[in-house]
Amino acid sequence: MTTQSFTEQDVESFFDQTTSTYLNFWDSSGVLHTGYFDGDDDHDYQAAAERTSDVVATEAGINASSYVLDVGCGCGPFLMYLTGRFGCRGEGLDLSIERINFAREQLTGDKADLNVNFTHGSATAMPYEDNTFTHVVSQDSLCLIPDKPKTHSEVFRVLQPGGVFAFSDFLQPKTDISERGRKHVYDRVRWNNGYSYMGYQQALEEAGFVVTHARNLEPQIRQTYRVIGKAATERAAETDDPAAREWMLGFAESCGEIEHAIDRGEFGWGIFVARKPA
Ligand SMILES: C[S@@+](CC[C@H](N)C(=O)[O-])C[C@H]1O[C@@H](n2cnc3c(N)ncnc32)[C@H](O)[C@@H]1O
Repeated sequence: MTTQSFTEQDVESFFDQTTSTYLNFWDSSGVLHTGYFDGDDDHDYQAAAERTSDVVATEAGINASSYVLDVGCGCGPFLMYLTGRFGCRGEGLDLSIERINFAREQLTGDKADLNVNFTHGSATAMPYEDNTFTHVVSQDSLCLIPDKPKTHSEVFRVLQPGGVFAFSDFLQPKTDISERGRKHVYDRVRWNNGYSYMGYQQALEEAGFVVTHARNLEPQIRQTYRVIGKAATERAAETDDPAAREWMLGFAESCGEIEHAIDRGEFGWGIFVARKPA
């Protein structure tokens, strides 16, 4: 098993309290997801993170007529990308009011005309009518929700018949997780027991979905933490602010530990596409 049972309240507090830290130290535009890298020599996190959005959008089949819900939208970068690129309509839902407020504040200037709305709420009790969306997407959020079957049934409920559920998520490839893995991967982000690659697909099928596409992408998450950890070390050396330096160095150490956890088979990442039967 992984750890103590974190509640939705624990997850909400964590993401509220860390919003400004991640904006300062990870990505100032609010992106907080795994990059899709071109190979071991690719070190451009921003480009890789955008590529992940591109891959999920393409595999979901989003186009101008789509109405897309992003579950665990965080600071909203994926929906702003989708609505800007395809001209589709978007709705973002996140448990953290801090992240939703940041997302709303971004809708000015060249983003003021985007057809997007951000709502504070939980994936386990979605404030939407049945059969509303053509697509539900998500990046690296669903694993954090303690009641995963309830989330799946909510996604199923709000999707139109024939609608597509396409997302990336963290994976827990095995049941037994070492003390180090628990501390640096699971407890760090208040993550309760996750799904394995096969277990995820089974859970989606149990919720009524037909899984149409699944990819186990462990190299991508390893490269994400390698690149982010290296950037944190470099920035620690450059800053004059002792608090920032301490955070950067601690974060870089965590990234190294996360890479070890991946090597021990305790952490993974994948992309899944499923359809609600027509
Ligand atoms: C790792 S961040 C990813 C954010 C965003 N998808 C991105 O790509 O930048 C995970 C997000 O999931 C949200 N989250 C966690 N539990 C949730 C829940 N029960 N309902 C809605 N959002 C949730 C968190 O508040 C956080 O913003």
